[in-house]
Amino acid sequence: MNKVLILFFIWANYSVSQELIVPIPQKLEYHHQKASLGKKLFFDVRLSRDNTIACTSCHFLLDGGDDNMAVSQGIGGKKGIRNSPTVFNSRYNSVQFWDGRAKNLLEQVEGPIHNPVEMGSNYSEIIAKLNHDKNYIREFSLLYKNGISKYSIDDAIGEFEKSLVTPNSRFDKFLRGDKKALTKNELDGYMLFKEYGCISCHNGINVGANLMQKIGVVEAFDTVDFGKYNYTKKEEDKFYFKVPSLRNVELTAPYFHDGKVKTLKDAVEKMAIHQIGYPLEDNEIEKIISFLKTLTGDTPLTVRGGYEKNNY
Ligand code: HEC
Ligand code: HEC
Repeated sequence: MNKVLILFFIWANYSVSQELIVPIPQKLEYHHQKASLGKKLFFDVRLSRDNTIACTSCHFLLDGGDDNMAVSQGIGGKKGIRNSPTVFNSRYNSVQFWDGRAKNLLEQVEGPIHNPVEMGSNYSEIIAKLNHDKNYIREFSLLYKNGISKYSIDDAIGEFEKSLVTPNSRFDKFLRGDKKALTKNELDGYMLFKEYGCISCHNGINVGANLMQKIGVVEAFDTVDFGKYNYTKKEEDKFYFKVPSLRNVELTAPYFHDGKVKTLKDAVEKMAIHQIGYPLEDNEIEKIISFLKTLTGDTPLTVRGGYEKNNY
């Protein structure tokens, strides 16, 4: 065989085996002691003005990393306008928040702390409170040169968030070569997910969360939230939201930025109509859902209490 032909075969094989979805790595990089401190902060109500709300009030770690409410409730029972997204696998999001307004986890932490309908606090109040706690003073000073500061609070929480990944879903096992990991129905669902182009928006390591897209590409979607436009004020950004990750999606109902979509069936139906412009048959929806359910992974190791290990 001549060289060109050999190269062609290698290329053809490579492109056939290329999947647009990538498994979550089984080895993780994060700072274990900082993550352990970040976990305490994540559960600490002193981060809110009236000491009633912690990060975990809206991001339950033993479930899907969200709160299963349409919109979240912050201090004094105040309600926001958006559905709480999962904090799981957020280290792989290209940007944070539904409208992508925070570039990374470090930048994201101050969002809920300052938000008047979430924690309604500020860093000087929080630092003053934490400085009354001998354990925090000791732990922060061991890990950070300047002790308790805005930077160290955000960084420790960010390190904890980096540990919140859900590897080993059945779909990841399938991608790693275990062809028996999926049933025929689930595999059919994955094929439909590709054929109908769901994968053009929901792809990569998080099966989403790597691009901003308009809700209502084909048929307008009824919402009062302008998404990315709210902070850019550019006409072309109206109704643009971060395409959500579909990992663990069976655990994170209700759906969409406003939490108005109650079931996975309704979410897939709406996607077909508003994003693809092609209504799906019930049996196709059922297959796609059975595929989506294979994206549920292990509970993160640091939620289960292990810090020293980063091998899943
Ligand atoms: C009152 C409920 C509430 C509290 C408390 C809260 N969050 Fe959130 N969180 C939300 C909501 C709602 C969003 C989506 C906001 C948006 O997109 O505008 C969000 C978004 C996020 C995101 C972005 C995820 C993504 O996919 O874009 C992360 C990460 C996060 N929160 C972590 C935290 C941390 C850390 C804390 C504590 C410092 C915290 N949250 C406190 C409700 C809450
Ligand atoms: C053009 C891009 C695009 C395509 C194609 C697309 N989606 Fe989406 N998907 C989005 C966006 C953007 C959202 C967020 C919508 C919102 O919150 O208003 C979303 C939300 C979802 C949700 C809800 C997730 C959550 O946590 O709220 C599911 C489930 C979903 N899509 C599945 C699918 C399926 C199945 C298909 C194929 C039938 C599909 N999507 C096609 C962009 C797309």
